[in-house]
Amino acid sequence: MKYHLILYITLTIIASVSASMPPPFKRELYYTSSNPLEGSDVYIAQSFLLRSKYVTSFPANKVYDLATKKAVEQFQSGNSLSVDGIIGPATANLLIKLHLNDGYKDDGRFPEGYLYKIHISVHSNRSIPATAYLIAPNNTRIFKFPVLTQGQGPNGGYNSFSDSGNTPTGLYEIDLNSPENDPDDFGPYPVNRLTRGLAGNGAIITPDTSKSDNIRAGLLVHCGQSAEWKKGVIPPSHGCIHSWCSNIQRIWKILTLDLGVKVNKNYFGSVVPYPFNSQGVLSLELLDE
Ligand SMILES: *[C@@H]1O[C@H](CO)[C@@H](O)[C@H](O)[C@H]1NC(C)=O
Ligand SMILES: *[C@@H]1O[C@H](CO)[C@@H](O)[C@H](O)[C@H]1NC(C)=O
Repeated sequence: MKYHLILYITLTIIASVSASMPPPFKRELYYTSSNPLEGSDVYIAQSFLLRSKYVTSFPANKVYDLATKKAVEQFQSGNSLSVDGIIGPATANLLIKLHLNDGYKDDGRFPEGYLYKIHISVHSNRSIPATAYLIAPNNTRIFKFPVLTQGQGPNGGYNSFSDSGNTPTGLYEIDLNSPENDPDDFGPYPVNRLTRGLAGNGAIITPDTSKSDNIRAGLLVHCGQSAEWKKGVIPPSHGCIHSWCSNIQRIWKILTLDLGVKVNKNYFGSVVPYPFNSQGVLSLELLDE
């Protein structure tokens, strides 16, 4: 009896501690016919559900409709969760654990129609600095530089679907833009802006970085000169890719002097859609998963 009571109390404590929604989710998601829940959180959940082998394909339309409820039930049933069609903490945690990763892998090719490629392989622990390569159209690595793709948050940063979390993996179009206005936070040199997601999580999160309904807008490859940059380690970002200013300067020089890239005017994401043809691509993949 005594042990049962202790077990009961322990389970109750565990249940109440874990009963909050994990980032990026901030609310429980469920079906209502009168005023359906709608938003980027629903879209993220739908995108994860579509990666489950238990879920039959349905449209990811940002609305928690009956098809989404059915998909949640299939996910829950296939994974031995209690089946209620509601995304509460347990279902959200399992969706993240099983389906956050996009499985994106760089194909080793240089995509036609662009002037440069940046290839970055990251550890799932984003606290560990990663190696990036600038690649020319003849598919040769012409510059190697260290980057950090860690966002804010504990334990290596929040996951890449969260506000200010790690840079999402995937393939993006990028473009060289004139410097940001604040050299302390963004460095004094032209920056590379992630303008559109083409594959992997990047395509879910940033179909076009200048659109207001993007989940992660305004991602850049940049440096900084503030005090946090002077501690000898590359500091975390809010989702941007960070490197040292000497490298960012070098990339700008190579792009403009050797590869024929133009510096396009920086509209800071305010012009919709992105007003130039993006000149490069960025490929960001996980090394260890
Ligand atoms: C991630 O890597 C950092 C730096 O190497 C290390 O200090 C930290 O313990 C690692 N975190 C996890 C969760 O493994
Ligand atoms: C590839 O292109 C780069 C940039 O134009 C050039 O510097 C390099 O020599 C080329 N490498 C080969 C193997 O052709």
